[in-house]
Amino acid sequence: MHALIVVSHPNPASFTHSVAAHLAEGVTLSGPGNSFEIADLAAEGFDPRFTSADIAAHLREAPSSADVTAEQARIDRADALVLVYPVYWWSMPGLLKGWIDRVFSNGWAYDDGLGAKVVKKLQHLPVHLVAIGGADLGTYERHGYFDAMRTQIDHGIFDYCGAPVKTSEFLLPSEAQDPSAHLDAARNIGRNLFDASGASRRGKAAEAA
Ligand SMILES: Cc1cc2nc3c(=O)[nH]c(=O)nc-3n(C[C@H](O)[C@H](O)[C@H](O)COP(=O)(O)O)c2cc1C
Repeated sequence: MHALIVVSHPNPASFTHSVAAHLAEGVTLSGPGNSFEIADLAAEGFDPRFTSADIAAHLREAPSSADVTAEQARIDRADALVLVYPVYWWSMPGLLKGWIDRVFSNGWAYDDGLGAKVVKKLQHLPVHLVAIGGADLGTYERHGYFDAMRTQIDHGIFDYCGAPVKTSEFLLPSEAQDPSAHLDAARNIGRNLFDASGASRRGKAAEAA
C-alpha cells in the first residue's frame, strides 16, 4: 500500500514538515511493503496559479497541462492521500489551495456533465487531513472554525469528488503542552493509515473495471 503525503510549507525545518516526516515514519512502521512519497509542493516549485490553460482544461476545450497530469498520476499511484498543512487564515495555504484548484480538475476528480448530476470520480481515494494551527482550541470552538474548515475542505472539496475523508485532525498548541505529543499523534496517523482507509489497489481496480 502506498501513501502520497502532500506538504505545503516553505520551510523544510518547520514543525509542519516534522509532522509529515513522523506520519511517513508511521506508514513505514505500519507493515512490510507499505510505502510513501512526500510531495513537498514548495520545494518542488508547484505553480498554484490557475491560468487560462487551466480554464480551457476545465471547459474541456484543451487537455490539462503536463504539471497537472503529473500530479494526477502520482495521486493515481497512491492508495491514500494525506494533506499536511499549516492553517492560514482559517483555511489551507494558498499553495495547497492552488494545487487542489488545478489538479482536482473537471474530468479527472469529477465529471460535471452540463445539466446532468456531477459524477464523483475519486471514490476509491481515502483522504487524511492534518491541519496544524497556531490558535488554541477555545478560539476554534468559539468561532466555529472547526465546522467552517470541515465544511469547506472535507465536505466542499473531497466529498464533492467522492473521496472519503477517513481522518481529519487539527494539531493545536493548546492540546499538547509538549509538541512531541503532536509528533506522536502524527506517527500514529501514519501507522493506522491503511487500517482506517480501507482501500486497496484491488478495490481501485474493481471500481475501474
Ligand atoms: C499567513 C499566516 C496565517 C495564519 N493563520 C492562522 C489561522 O487562521 N489560524 C491558526 O490557528 N493559525 C494561523 N497561523 C499560524 C500557523 O498555523 C502556525 O504558525 C503554524 O501552523 C505553525 O506551524 P509551522 O511551525 O510549521 O509554521 C497563521 C500563520 C501564518 C503565517
